Amino acid sequence: MSQTPDPSTSAAAPRRLYGRAKGHPLSARQQALVEGLGEQLTWPDEGALDPAALLPGFAAHVLEIGFGAAEHLIGQAQRNPGTGYLGVEPFLNGVAKALAGIEDHALKNVRVKRADARTEIERMPDGAFDRIYLLFPDPWPKSRHAKRRFVQADTARALARLLKPGGTLRLATDVRAYADHALPILLETPGLNWLADGPDSWRDNPADHIITRYQSKHLGDIDPVFMDFEKL
Ligand SMILES: C[S@@+](CC[C@H](N)C(=O)[O-])C[C@H]1O[C@@H](n2cnc3c(N)ncnc32)[C@H](O)[C@@H]1O
Repeated sequence: MSQTPDPSTSAAAPRRLYGRAKGHPLSARQQALVEGLGEQLTWPDEGALDPAALLPGFAAHVLEIGFGAAEHLIGQAQRNPGTGYLGVEPFLNGVAKALAGIEDHALKNVRVKRADARTEIERMPDGAFDRIYLLFPDPWPKSRHAKRRFVQADTARALARLLKPGGTLRLATDVRAYADHALPILLETPGLNWLADGPDSWRDNPADHIITRYQSKHLGDIDPVFMDFEKL
């Protein structure tokens, strides 16, 4: 399984990763897919990483951070075969589900990496993406755990850097503490402009959204909110 090192225990990992790295045992098929994860479905562990070189010939490139069980990643990739999708997720079972989805739908436009997205985004060039999704990131609702939340001033600056001018970042959450934490950070991030024109624009599922099993469980304390930011 050299392609899927456990990112929570990797000696090279510069940051501590919270949350689950593994869940229930993989099915035989998932195990085979993970073990066979070759360069054609992922990317190297080190070095600069250009999505346009990794998935050449696509009109646009999209990053999904923390894709969970991959319903949204695979669904979007099916809908948009002319767009290249990169997904980063440290949870082994999620990576296995993404690989099964890629195989089931014979997708040619998806690459996935079992990794901490904070590390992967540092490897990518400015303006690499037309769109970035950060959907229902682990909420860490207690204020003493706020530092564990994915959105921090440094990650927000990195996400802004990765977007092309006119590109968009979508954050979704159903946890008030996360929304209250992330919105001011993103509003203060140079180069990001919140595309909100009234409550409907953050309370409704966006027209292009795909609801995941996680979202449908409604584990948070508020109805889901969606915040789209444009790179100026
Ligand atoms: C609450 S789940 C939501 C999953 C999915 N986005 C959805 O909406 O169904 C949050 C996901 O973020 C992943 N995650 C946590 N920290 C991460 C990080 N540093 N980089 C990438 N993914 C991360 C978790 O493993 C988990 O799968």
